[in-house]
Amino acid sequence: MEVVLLPTPEDCGRVVADAVVGSVLPALARSGPVVLGLATGSSPLLAYQELLRRHRDEGLSLTGVQAFLLDEYVGLPAGHPESYREVIRRELTDALGLDPAVVHGPDGAAADPLQAARDYEAQLLAAGPVVVQVLGIGSNGHVGFNEPGSSLASRTRVKTLTEQTRTDNARFFGGDVDAVPRHVITQGLGTILGAQHLVLVATGEGKAEAVAAAVEGPLTASCPGSVLQLHPHVTLVVDEAAGSRLVRADHHRYVLAHKLASQGW
Ligand code: GLP
Repeated sequence: MEVVLLPTPEDCGRVVADAVVGSVLPALARSGPVVLGLATGSSPLLAYQELLRRHRDEGLSLTGVQAFLLDEYVGLPAGHPESYREVIRRELTDALGLDPAVVHGPDGAAADPLQAARDYEAQLLAAGPVVVQVLGIGSNGHVGFNEPGSSLASRTRVKTLTEQTRTDNARFFGGDVDAVPRHVITQGLGTILGAQHLVLVATGEGKAEAVAAAVEGPLTASCPGSVLQLHPHVTLVVDEAAGSRLVRADHHRYVLAHKLASQGW
């Protein structure tokens, strides 16, 4: 995988936006459906703001994409402001001018969430492959909502969150841990591996351990992010703080400084 170590979170946002645009625009030019995989959480926000800036100031258009989310809370009513479908509309897709009808996510409000998970997997497989999937990583190494212990081959299904993730995410629910749902529907790690290009972004010291485990640790379900080691095209974008535990940090800086112009992301 390519580890891109950059000075600031803003630099990370620009590179993630470059990587997304670099995968999506050529696919749009070839015509046919283009599936863009989106993540929620705070990590991709600067990248999304950069995409919106380019849309506003430089005429960037992602019209023609079908956007698919990684995951969703179970039990929040449709339209709840913290449901990931609403979050991504608010933070990205509405301002990009994408019709809500082309923004897809698991139906966390379904009466039968297990069936909703199977339906979402089928919908994604029918629409895909995902041309580029944006990812964050949890402080415990989770990707999507695949918590430690998740099968590396898993498909979209219902999962139970760890208390750590519920505590981490309580900030989006007014600090009230009890308001954070216990269950989620998440693309599986095997599902995520089906994307053609994975772009993971992590910033801040709080992610340093998870990033090091994912990049340099053993391939293990104990760190779901380590599954990226199996994928042929990963761009892992971190700021200095999130990359501070990487043993090979100097080599990553050296590779970046000597990157061939033709290499792209
Ligand atoms: C969340 C999401 C993940 C996200 C991760 C990190 O719970 N389900 O998709 O990558 O946890 O979140 P953040 O970027 O806010 O640190």
